[in-house]
Amino acid sequence: MSELFHVPFVSADREFEEIGQELLATIESVLRGGQILNGEPVYQLENALAVLGGRKYGRVVNSGTDALYFALVAAGVGEGDEVLLGDLSFVATVDAILRAGATPVFVDVDDDCTVDLDLAAEALGPRTKALVAVQLYGRMTDPYLLERFARENGLLLIEDAAQSLGAAVSGRRSGSVGVASCHSFDPMKVIPAPGTGGVVLTDDPDIAERVEQLRRWGFSGGDFVRLGHNSQMSSLTAAVIQVKLKHEERWLKRRRTIASTYSAGFDDGPCRVPEHGELRENVYHKYVLRTSRRDALAAALRAAGIETHVHYPYVLHELPFMERYPNRLIDRGRAKRLTKEVISLPIHPFLTDQEVDRVVTTARKALDV
Ligand SMILES: Cc1ncc(COP(=O)(O)O)c(C=O)c1O
Repeated sequence: MSELFHVPFVSADREFEEIGQELLATIESVLRGGQILNGEPVYQLENALAVLGGRKYGRVVNSGTDALYFALVAAGVGEGDEVLLGDLSFVATVDAILRAGATPVFVDVDDDCTVDLDLAAEALGPRTKALVAVQLYGRMTDPYLLERFARENGLLLIEDAAQSLGAAVSGRRSGSVGVASCHSFDPMKVIPAPGTGGVVLTDDPDIAERVEQLRRWGFSGGDFVRLGHNSQMSSLTAAVIQVKLKHEERWLKRRRTIASTYSAGFDDGPCRVPEHGELRENVYHKYVLRTSRRDALAAALRAAGIETHVHYPYVLHELPFMERYPNRLIDRGRAKRLTKEVISLPIHPFLTDQEVDRVVTTARKALDV
């Protein structure tokens, strides 16, 4: 890897350069305030996130994985139920389903890398209870189609919005889809927590109440009414996320500008660029190119000091631990093919124009454009 030039995939240090003083002042005030758990910043953040998603309730928890697991359990998904999901996602999506005691039904993805609803229809069975729709890479699947599919088939729809905070399509925001939506604040996400963090957004007071219980040892009305967990977000994390939310719009603008530069740089090449329609407010959590020359491209970028990743190098149904769990699969080989073609380019908002140009020129050369 080039010593002189390094384009990092994420950059906490550059973020700190930009907003460090604000973060330090916030952290100091939370520590001086003394209420590390159940503090005001937690409730302020929950309200802010609920407003962003157009929802009535927000319940912050310790990770996006917990958020999904709690949302499923709170919505009534459990043992004996089947849950549909696209076969291409981060492992956490299926983790949550298995932790809830349900059986995953892996459905191959469509051209947009998200669950193919025609195949999902084929996958329906008497025990199918829910669909977990992943807004992969920060780009939303049409929420009206998802909701119609769920309604017509009597399914609970849970939005795995871990990657899509701030995304919208046709006036609908990510966070507003289905009975519950779950965002993540993992350090690689659009708004990174200092550690892990997640939230469940819902309009259903019963779901909100059950998530409340699940995140605090089953506590409700002065007693421990069910088996629960300890998944509380600290006031420090909540306050830091709030600070970063104030900068979200500027950072998203920058991500979109970089995405436009990439798309303009590659759309005449032997690769597929993500859709960049005006109606689709993609947040470009990841900028994912698809090319049959993926490995050569990754090697050329690595040699030039440019960090890339593959999201994802696996299909969920082939994860080693899946051998131990019952599951079903509706496969057309598309997700598997994508695992060999996708490559995520750096797209954090702290990239310089020079770095972005370097990514484009190096990649074009590697792809012989
Ligand atoms: C699609 C998807 N679902 C769920 C998660 C889980 O979120 P977390 O890492 O906060 O547990 C992530 C991210 O890590 C993700 O990308």
